[in-house]
Amino acid sequence: MKLAGKHCLVTGANSGLGLAVSKKLAGMGANTILVCRSRAKGEAALQEIKRETPDASLELMTCDLSSMKSIRSFLDEFRSRHSKLDVLFNNAAVMKQKRTLTEDGFEMMFQVNYLAPFILMNSLLDLLRNGSEPLVIGNARPEYKIRLDMDDLQFEKRYKMYGSFFQTKLCLLFACLELAHRPESDGVAVTMLDPGPFKSNLVRDVPLAGWFKNLFSVSVDKAADNILHHITSDDVMDKNGKVFKEKQDWPLSEYWQDAKVREPLWAKTQSIVSSVLDPPA
Ligand SMILES: NC(=O)c1ccc[n+]([C@@H]2O[C@H](COP(=O)([O-])OP(=O)(O)OC[C@H]3O[C@@H](n4cnc5c(N)ncnc54)[C@H](OP(=O)(O)O)[C@@H]3O)[C@@H](O)[C@H]2O)c1
Repeated sequence: MKLAGKHCLVTGANSGLGLAVSKKLAGMGANTILVCRSRAKGEAALQEIKRETPDASLELMTCDLSSMKSIRSFLDEFRSRHSKLDVLFNNAAVMKQKRTLTEDGFEMMFQVNYLAPFILMNSLLDLLRNGSEPLVIGNARPEYKIRLDMDDLQFEKRYKMYGSFFQTKLCLLFACLELAHRPESDGVAVTMLDPGPFKSNLVRDVPLAGWFKNLFSVSVDKAADNILHHITSDDVMDKNGKVFKEKQDWPLSEYWQDAKVREPLWAKTQSIVSSVLDPPA
């Protein structure tokens, strides 16, 4: 798929994988929309991309995914500027050593890593349907053995930095697989991509663990190539409802396909986000 003229939105575009993917998208002629929590960090990222690709088509928008108010105003602004979207790369994420709450009262990783991309992909579906071979990407591939505790989705009973983080990513995987099969996403490919372990600052709360993980990781540039491989493929629509590790198709487990988990999670999430985004009058 050619990227010239495509509108590609990347969350967490100011650092790590988000920045590396944004550079590549911009270098290939996409109109790249950098969505960042901090305007200053976003501006620095934009200038860095401009230095490498002076004629890059870039747009900077701010959105703090830990704030429903910020998500709502971002969506309003996005709609006022755009009538179509071709790629939504739900990349931003946070990993917290200690359980913390957002201003909306949700557990931080649950909101940033799961509720926020859930809202973005559902709220932008109509603009995605106006895109050409539109693609929604959730960023991760939890291990098969991880299970959700549906009664403790926000880790009130048990919080573990890695365990809870991957549960939020598993929620995202379930939501992507569910959305991929729902009629409202017809014409839009929804997929989960794991770019593979890459050197990153995500585990910043526990620097030693982050350092150790980075020893066995590839460069962020290589991970970004894995994401671009899928975005630029000629069979984007065939990716709907699939999971990939790096460039390879990754088999869906029975658990991931279990409607008895997926559907209640979807319903519960819809009720959470609609009560926050559209509170009763
Ligand atoms: N590292 C790996 O080996 C690996 C492997 C597979 C998948 N991934 C996935 O790759 C993605 C990017 O990770 P990374 O390693 O590149 O991490 P990173 O450098 O820490 O980047 C995370 C990005 O998310 C943004 N973010 C965090 N909280 C936010 C919020 N409340 N609102 C808006 N943006 C927020 C950060 O913005 P600030 O700079 O403002 O904090 C930053 O831009 C994650 O989804 C991760 O799960 C990573």
